Amino acid sequence: MATLEKIHILKFRNLSDQYFSPDSAINLVLGKNGQGKTNLIESLYYLGHGRSFKTKNLKDIIPFDDDQIQISAIVSGQKISLNKTREKSQVLVDGKKILSNSFLSQLLPIQIISPDRGFIVGGAPKLKRSYLDWGVYHDNKKTLTTYASYKKTLKNINTILTSGVQTHLDEWLTQLANLSVEITKNRIVYTENLSSILKENKSMRLASLVESFFDFKFELQTGWPKEVDPLNEQHILSYLINSKKALIKTKHLNYGPHRASINFSLNSQSENYLSRGEQKKTSIVFWMLQVIALVENKNKPVVLVDDISSELDEIKIKSIIDFLADVKVQIFMTDIGNKKLPLSEQKSSTFNIKNGVITAF
Ligand SMILES: Nc1ncnc2c1ncn2[C@@H]1O[C@H](COP(=O)(O)OP(=O)(O)OP(=O)(O)O)[C@@H](O)[C@H]1O
Ligand SMILES: [Mg+2]
Repeated sequence: MATLEKIHILKFRNLSDQYFSPDSAINLVLGKNGQGKTNLIESLYYLGHGRSFKTKNLKDIIPFDDDQIQISAIVSGQKISLNKTREKSQVLVDGKKILSNSFLSQLLPIQIISPDRGFIVGGAPKLKRSYLDWGVYHDNKKTLTTYASYKKTLKNINTILTSGVQTHLDEWLTQLANLSVEITKNRIVYTENLSSILKENKSMRLASLVESFFDFKFELQTGWPKEVDPLNEQHILSYLINSKKALIKTKHLNYGPHRASINFSLNSQSENYLSRGEQKKTSIVFWMLQVIALVENKNKPVVLVDDISSELDEIKIKSIIDFLADVKVQIFMTDIGNKKLPLSEQKSSTFNIKNGVITAF
């Protein structure tokens, strides 16, 4: 189980040199607009992912009057330290350099619910794949090497298609068909697991998020056209060989797991017709299912919820909080503080944030 025990934010956006000892259960951070709530959530996300969910540019998160970011935390007894300048990135765990962010993700799995990251329901396929594969990875760590090989293979195929020199194309296509089946299999197993969790009673509390009749469905789109059997390597390969002419014309492969997506629906309405509030609620249900899957896998994540009360009424906020408290994960949530949040029965600590300074309530 991942728990953030002590956090030291030295330099991160408008947050500077301060220690923060969170509760092992619920942490509520209250602050007015522009005080640093999202920055705090982003810094915690950074610790578990080695990157931001808001920007690709390090310069955006380096404090205005500085040249680096620096944060560290004790996570389940181990120390993660992050120090990044534009030239150099150093990520240490217990003083030892780590080579890949996936190591951070193992030590500190972080699930985030934030309008800034975008909602998965009604979201872009890229965001959907990112959430999906984060879950798949925690289910089966080997998938990371498969994804890396797939990416490399795809890149080689696209280079060959652009150059027009077709040597080795068939070998790469064979390799791609093989890796594609593996990726799709893992994604199917994972989404089916989430669907079965949804059907079980455990998620009744989640159902109350989405009102009286609740028929929330999601289906993996594998990235291949309907006529291709995505679990049959030979079938994929012959499809690719038969489509060679078209591929050479388009100069890149626009089918396959890199184009996968998830289709969501609520009460038989496609995600695109849902209101923003409905998209938010169903996104939360999907994210919570991922939390349950991780908890069942004995790998409890830390959950970050930015702007908890925006677009949600008190009953829904209560069902989210009760649900997370039930599964006993550590939670960081922020709020503007206009509504009284239903926290009383839970073990929780409240903090204030003003001008980037966090203080216990
Ligand atoms: N690189 C940076 N260095 C210093 N300050 C920054 C940096 N990036 C953003 N800020 C400041 O952080 C503040 C906003 O912080 P944040 O987005 O966390 O606010 P918030 O509390 O989440 O507000 P809201 O309630 O509106 O969501 C802004 O005032 C902004 O100027
Ligand atoms: Mg914010």
